Order: sequence, then structure tokens, then C-alpha cells
Amino acid sequence: MDFFIKNCKLDREKTDCIVVPIFNLCELSDSIIYLDKCSNGYITSLIKLGDIQGKIGDKLILYKIPGIFSKRILLVGCGKKDQIDKSNLKEILQNTIKILKKLLIKNVVYSFSELNINNNIYWMVRVIVLSTKESLYEVKKINNSNIKNINIDYITLNISKKNDLFIAKISLKHALAINYAIASAKNLSNLPPNICNPLYLSNCAKKLSKKYKENIVVEIIDIKKMKELGMHSYIAVGNGAKNKPFMSVIKYSGHNVINNQTIAFVGKGLTFDSGGISIKPAFNMHEMKYDMCGAAAVYGILIMAAELQLPLKIIAILSGCENMPGGHAFRPGDVLTTMSGQTVEVLNTDAEGRLVLCDSLTYLERFSPNIVIDIATLTGACVTALGESVSGLFSNNQELETQLHRASRETGDKIWSLPLFSEYYKELNSNIADFSNVGKGKAGAITAACFLSKFTKKYNWAHLDIAGTAWKSGEYGGATGRPVELLCQFLLNQSNYIYS
Ligand code: BES
Ligand code: MN
Ligand code: ZN
Repeated sequence: MDFFIKNCKLDREKTDCIVVPIFNLCELSDSIIYLDKCSNGYITSLIKLGDIQGKIGDKLILYKIPGIFSKRILLVGCGKKDQIDKSNLKEILQNTIKILKKLLIKNVVYSFSELNINNNIYWMVRVIVLSTKESLYEVKKINNSNIKNINIDYITLNISKKNDLFIAKISLKHALAINYAIASAKNLSNLPPNICNPLYLSNCAKKLSKKYKENIVVEIIDIKKMKELGMHSYIAVGNGAKNKPFMSVIKYSGHNVINNQTIAFVGKGLTFDSGGISIKPAFNMHEMKYDMCGAAAVYGILIMAAELQLPLKIIAILSGCENMPGGHAFRPGDVLTTMSGQTVEVLNTDAEGRLVLCDSLTYLERFSPNIVIDIATLTGACVTALGESVSGLFSNNQELETQLHRASRETGDKIWSLPLFSEYYKELNSNIADFSNVGKGKAGAITAACFLSKFTKKYNWAHLDIAGTAWKSGEYGGATGRPVELLCQFLLNQSNYIYS
């Protein structure tokens, strides 16, 4: 499905359908007023019948409209004109797609640009493109059938002011790159754990360096190199599994890099987390294939950086590993020496994410990064604290935290800060090692972040706990692609690509 940006003569568009907004109490949009004039009042005469009010969820399909080339006009209710924001616009677009899919429409013109959120065409186009793509996304079935779903072929976005065309086109370019990133992250996350194992993740990283030769170099750290580096914590987590751990180090460098900053990302890439010897209950254990969504998000944002040729230096790590029980598995009670030299007493083998991440975070020190952001489905406790629509944010740097909150506000990819007060650190005390891998108290998301913070003293660091937001359960569920849009926006802002 392709998008086009165009300043249309709405009455002359030979298309299957023109979609126009209508507001509460039948308040007409500029597009309706224009089309109504062209049809000599036909449209308003139908609206007067009272079949549509303009509330969100309302719709009315018109056929054979005099003076109009399009086969149909679809009026979609948008609620109160001055109350439209990004989130209800998403809902409006989802409703629209549902209707268009039902009608098997192939070619459509959207005349939404007059909805101008914050008087800003950039965000308007971004939201339209990303929400539409999100509504059309389907999990790829693994079977032998070749049945292809019939889908919309073209969506033309009518931009009512010619002066807005330039920004609208930039926005479309950004949105398509971000969508590519989100879809790539989702596709990777949705794969089953017998296909997407740590080696598979590292092969995905290698493919990036083949596709984006000019910008991306990849190094794979296998278990042998991990041993040389002293990554005993990371290695221990992988010990029980036949699928050996692989850490992918992906270096992206744009042309015309604007400053000497290096921004680093680490993604938790547990391709399956059974809990290990501290085994998880059977209920919903299959969902632990999603324990690599952090790595998938990092993979996604590199794609967007390369597609848009961002003028930045990025180092990204996919921490691939599988956590399984077995005769070789690490145990509760084991004491591990991390790459940093600090020792950790394992009290629960299911708190494995932090054990993989800590060595990845220490490994990053060699690149002297200015900013490091890790992304991890780290704790069930974060889901208890913030639910399923908000990711947890932890940081040792106020400015970085502010920048992430800004990107979150701009995209609607919600995050919320949780504290790293000194009281929480005491919960990690151990009598045999420098500290343990789980806290004794209740604030599990925070103690996990406290653990990570012991390995991030050398740089500005933020940790995103996406345990609640990375996927949705059930038949219509799957990976959400979060927090890819948030991080893409963070990088766009770092690149000074600002259109708002
Ligand atoms: N991957 C899980 C966290 C998780 C659980 C994410 C449920 C999403 C849904 C992580 O490795 C884990 O098992 N964490 C434990 C930590 C505990 C043992 C301190 C948890 O949250 O129960
Ligand atoms: Mn676990
Ligand atoms: Zn896990």
C-alpha cells in the first residue's frame, strides 16, 4: 500500500472513495462545504435526513453524487472540532480503515488535512500514516497457504494548502521510515522461539550490514569471545540452553555527522525466558518468546536511522540469549563475576535479563558513549506499577530524562519516570557477593533498575522497562512495536529534524 501527498481538486478525483470529516452536531468541514457546492447541495440535503451526527464512530457513505468524479464519499464523524488530538485521531483513522476494508476499496483520497492538530501539518501526516499502517498490520501466519488478503492499494492525502506540501512530504518520508522500523520490530518479535533464537537475531544484525553497507558495520560476540571479555554473568544465563548466546554489536554512522556524540542502545534479547531453574508457571509461558522485544526495538530503530540517513553515530547491542533449565544451567545460589568485576549472588534465575544486560552495558564503555539507553521486558512488577499502556523510565541524568519525555509527548508513546532512591539499593544486599540479582522488597521494577545502575556509572543512562507495553496477549494480540516510535523521535530530535 502506497501513500501520496497531493493538493487535490476534490470533485475531479477519479477514485473509489473520498473520505471527509464531519464534526459534532453536523458541523461541516471545508472539504464537505466544497464538495457540497460542486454537487449543488446534494450532500447537505442527505445530511439533513439526520443519518449522521458527527460523533466519533459515526459514518455515512454516499454514492452517485452529482458533479463528483469519485465513486463514493465517506463522511466520518470526528467529534468536536476543537477537541481533536493525536489519540482520538488514531481512533477516527482506525474506524475509517475498518469501513474501507469492508467495502474492499482499493484507491482512496483522505481529506483530513484541515484537522490540523496544533496547527501543524507535520504531525497530522505522521499520525495519519502511522495509524493507518498500524491498522493494516497483520501477524504473518506460519503455514503453507498463499492466500493474500485483499487490501487498499493507494491512499492519497489531500493537503488543502499548497504551502504545506513541502512539510507534508518530509513528514511522509519520516512516517514511512518509522513504520518500516515498527513493522520490522513487530515481525521479528512475533516469530516463534524455535525460529527466532539468539543465532537468528545475530543473523538479522548481519543482514543490516549487508543492506546498509555504507553506514552499518556489525560484529558478533560469540561465547568464546564473551569468555575472553569476562562476561561471565551473560554466559551463565545461556548455560542451560542448547541455543548458545550471541551478542550483536551494530555500529551505525551517518554521513555529515553533526557532532561527536555517540548514542548507544542495548536491547534485551531473551528469545525465550523459561525462568531457568527458577522455572516459570506454565500459564502463558509461551509469551516469553516476546522477551526479546527490546532487541527487536533496537533493530527497528537502526533501520529507521539508515533509511533516513540520520547524521548521527549510533552503537546498538542486541543481547541475544535463551534462559532454560537443565544440567548445565546456572542455579540459585551461584555467585557470578560480571565483566565489570563486581560479583552477583543469583537468588532467582528468572531475574536473568539484568544479568545479560549488565555485561552488555559494561562492554559499551569501550566506545565512550555520551548516552546509553537500554530497552527491556525486564519485570512483571513494572506491569503491576504502570499497566499495559505506559513503559517505565529510569535514568541517572535529568537532561536525558527530559529529552525522552519530550519524545514521548510528541509521539503519544507513553512513558513514566520511577525513582532510584538510595533506600531501594539496600534490598540488593548480599552476604557473599557485592550484591544479589533480586530485591527483597516489593518495588521489583525499581530494584531491577537499581541493579542495572551499578553498571552505568560512566555515562548518561536511561532504562526503559517495556514488560507491559511490548506485546498484547490473545488471538488478536502480538508485538506492539513499542517503544520504537518514541526512540525514533528521540533520534530525530537529536538530529535537529524539527518541524513542530
Ligand atoms: N521477562 C521477565 C519479565 C516479564 C514477566 C515480562 C512477565 C513480561 C511479563 C523477566 O525476566 C522476569 O522473569 N522477571 C522476574 C523478576 C523476579 C524474579 C525478580 C519477574 O518479573 O517476575
Ligand atoms: Mn525471567
Ligand atoms: Zn526475562
